[in-house]
Amino acid sequence: MKFFVDTADVQAIAELNDLGMVDGVTTNPSLILKSGRDILEVTKEICGIVSGPVSAEVVALKADEMIAEGRKLAAIAPNIAVKVPLTWDGLKTCKVLSGEGFMVNVTLCFSANQALLAAKAGATFISPFIGRLDDINMDGLDLIGDIRTIYDNYDFKTQILAASIRTANHVKDCALIGADVVTAPPSVIKALASHVLTDKGLEQFMADWAKTGQKIL
Ligand code: G3P
Repeated sequence: MKFFVDTADVQAIAELNDLGMVDGVTTNPSLILKSGRDILEVTKEICGIVSGPVSAEVVALKADEMIAEGRKLAAIAPNIAVKVPLTWDGLKTCKVLSGEGFMVNVTLCFSANQALLAAKAGATFISPFIGRLDDINMDGLDLIGDIRTIYDNYDFKTQILAASIRTANHVKDCALIGADVVTAPPSVIKALASHVLTDKGLEQFMADWAKTGQKIL
């Protein structure tokens, strides 16, 4: 399973990338706002750090403008995936831009039928938001499972990019159910390394080591 980092924080991306933990990056208008940076500048910088797909989202609502914005974003670097919302205009944009050879990430997906449409429109990635479904007492993981079954039934090549990942358990559950990619904030990716028994075991080893009076270096 691939790990994308869901942030426009260049330092956080670089730190995880140095550890080999970054297969790609996803951004959205809210994350650009949080970064306080210009979208074109920060996206270019991210594309210089990460060799995998970097999603940059259009903000127009009509297909013609979305297509123009998508082409401009795609011109930033060859590893840009143009992100479009799951609306009819977004699907139209997906069809045109994927036909031109660009990667397209269809975002704000909340149903299996929406995911089916995105695959038929040639999406490279579909982004179901599992945390936001959990927020309204629905089961985000069920959606990932349904999309996996549908895509496998018909051999769709669109990759399932599980988004709105809030917890370490979301990551494990998405891996078990067969998502192709998870995109998670840096804090969640870091939390994957944490275990109370690791901390406790290390504490014991350090205490015993101190009693030996030895040094390695
Ligand atoms: O990738 C989508 C993500 O940024 C949304 O996450 O936590 O705002 O639902 P969240």
